[in-house]
Amino acid sequence: MCGIVGYIGNKQAQPILLQGLRRLEYRGYDSAGLALWHDQCISRVRAVGKIERLAKKLKDQEIPGSMGIAHTRWATHGGVTEQNAHPHMALQGTLMLAHNGIIENYREIREKLGKDVSLTSETDSEVLAHLIGTHYNGDLRHAVMAALKHVRGTYGLVVMHVDHPDCIIGARMGSPLVVGVGEEEYFIASDATPILPYTKRVVYLDDGEIVELTREGIQTFTLADEVITKCVEEIEWDDEQAQKQGFDHFMLKEIHDQPQVFEDAIRGRLDMEEGTAHLGGLNMTEEEMRRVNRIILIACGTASYAGMVGKYAFERLSGIPTEVDVASEFRYRDPIIDENTLVFAISQSGETADTLAAIREAKRKGAFVRGIVNVVGSTIARETDGGTYIHAGPELAVASTKAYTNMVAVLLLYALQFGRSRRMTIATGQRFVRALQEIPQKMQMILDRKDTIFAIAEKYKDIPSCFFLGRGVNYVVALEGSLKLKEITYIHSEAYPGGEMKHGPIALLSPTFPVFAVMTKNQLYEKMRSNVEEIRARKAPLILVVTDGDDSAKEFTDDIMYVPPTMELLEPLLNTISLQLLAYYMAVSLDRDVDRPRNLAKSVTVE
Ligand code: F6R
Repeated sequence: MCGIVGYIGNKQAQPILLQGLRRLEYRGYDSAGLALWHDQCISRVRAVGKIERLAKKLKDQEIPGSMGIAHTRWATHGGVTEQNAHPHMALQGTLMLAHNGIIENYREIREKLGKDVSLTSETDSEVLAHLIGTHYNGDLRHAVMAALKHVRGTYGLVVMHVDHPDCIIGARMGSPLVVGVGEEEYFIASDATPILPYTKRVVYLDDGEIVELTREGIQTFTLADEVITKCVEEIEWDDEQAQKQGFDHFMLKEIHDQPQVFEDAIRGRLDMEEGTAHLGGLNMTEEEMRRVNRIILIACGTASYAGMVGKYAFERLSGIPTEVDVASEFRYRDPIIDENTLVFAISQSGETADTLAAIREAKRKGAFVRGIVNVVGSTIARETDGGTYIHAGPELAVASTKAYTNMVAVLLLYALQFGRSRRMTIATGQRFVRALQEIPQKMQMILDRKDTIFAIAEKYKDIPSCFFLGRGVNYVVALEGSLKLKEITYIHSEAYPGGEMKHGPIALLSPTFPVFAVMTKNQLYEKMRSNVEEIRARKAPLILVVTDGDDSAKEFTDDIMYVPPTMELLEPLLNTISLQLLAYYMAVSLDRDVDRPRNLAKSVTVE
C-alpha cells in the first residue's frame, strides 16, 4: 500500500516525481504530496484524491529544484485528509518524510516525544518524522538510524532535510524500496515502475538497510552503520510494457496480454520428450522431492483461487495431498507442518503482508517454502528458499487477470513435474505438455470473441445480484469470475459449486436473479447440466460458458460464451478469460473506475 518516489540529480524534480506518482497510483490513491528542495528551503504541496488533483495544484505553483520526495497514500492511520497526506514534516518544516508501512509502537513514541512536539496529523508517519527530528544534530543518516532503533513495525521511508541539498536517505523494513541508478541522477521508489523511463539499473534494498543517495552516487548501510556492497541489477521489463499500449484500461490490456505472457511462463520449462516440466527454482534434490507427502498453497484473494486450481492439479497428477490456505487464516490456525511439507506462497506483488507472515510461520515449522511470484526481487521472492517467477510482466490494474493465469500456469507445471516423478505415465505427460502449448492460441480465440461477451455484458449490466456456478476446477472459475465482477462493477455476486444450489442458495432464484454457469465438456458435464436444469426450472436467467460445438446448450439460453476445448485441468486458463471480459465490459458500461476500483489497493502490505 502507498507509493514512494524520490529523485536527486540535475533535472527538474517536480515532473519526474509527478510522473512517478502516476505510475505508482495503483498502490494507493487516497491522497498524494511532494516536497522539493530549492533556494535554501523545502516546499511541500499535498492534495486529497487522485494524483491529478495534486498535479492541478502544482500547475498554479510550480516548484523548482532538482531533489525531492513524493508519496501517494492508501490510508491506514487517520482519515483521508490533506493533513494526513505525506510528506510529513518535523523541525519546523526543515525535515520531510514519506513513509509506507505501519509503526506499531507509534503511541508509545508519541508519548515519549512529549508535549513540546505538536502533531498536525493523525498518522503514525508524522510521529516517525518527529522521532527522527529529535535525533537530528546535523547528520541526517545517523538521525534516521538512531530513530529506527526505537521503532517497531514496518517501513519503507525517504527523508530529506533543508541543510542537506545533496542527500536523500531511504530505509526499509518490511515495505519495499528500489533505488534506480542513472547517469548522475538517482531515484528511489516503492517499485521499479517510476524508475523505468529513466534507467533499468536498480538496487533492491533489503530489510534493515539504509541508503544514502547523493548526486555522486549511492551508499548502503546496515542499521548498525556498517557499509554494505549491493549489486546493481538490470530490470528486464521495458517501459512500454508498463504502459496501456492503446487499450482503454490497464485491465483490458492485461487481459489481452495473456496469450503472450502465458508463453513466457512456460517457455523453456516444458520437456516434450519426457512429458514433463523443469522448474529449476524448486531447489530440491530428487530425494527431497520424493519425501514430500503434503503440499500447502498459501495466498490471498485471486492468488488463492489460482492455488485452488493447483490443488486439483497436484492431487490428480501427483497424488500428493494438497491444501489451499488463505494466508490470513493459515498463521492463526496452527497448521500441521513438518519437514516433509512443501509450502508454496503464491503472490503477484510478492509483498502481501498476510502471505509474508504465513511463509515465515511455515519456515519456523521447518517446511520447504517456495514462492510463485510475479514481481522480481519482491520480499516474498527473496524470503522463500527458491521458487518460480510467473513472468506476467507488470500488472497495474488493481483487479488481477494475467497474474492469475500465469500463477495457474506455473502451478500446473509444478504438478506435472511432481506427477511425472511419481505416478504419471510419459504418454499422459506428453499429452499434458501438448495441451499447454496450445493454450496461447486458444486464449486468443476467446479474446477474438469479445463482441459476444460485450453484448451479454450490456444486457445484464443493471442486475443488482447474481450467482456464478461451476463444478470441479470450474467451481474455481466461478469463484474468480464472481470476485472480478464484485471488485470492478460493485454488483453483488456469489459463487457456488453447482451441486450446492439445492442445499440453500436456490431459494434466491427468480426471473430477475441471473446465474452465470460454467458448463464446459468434461467429466462433470452431465452433473452440471442437471444443475443448470434446476436453475432453468426456477426461470432464472441463465448465461453459460460452454465448449465449442456444444449446440445443445442453446436449449437453455441464447446467452452463451463459447470456449475452445482443452484438458479439464487446463480449463480455468480459458474459461476465466471469458468471465474477466464479462466483468470488464459490465464495469465499463456502468462507468466504473475499472483500473482503480473503490476501497481496493493493488499491493496489500498491511495485515
Ligand atoms: C483480486 C486481487 C486480489 C489479490 C490479492 C493477493 O483481483 O488482485 O485478490 O489477488 O490481494 O495479492 P498478491 O497476489 O499480490 O499477493
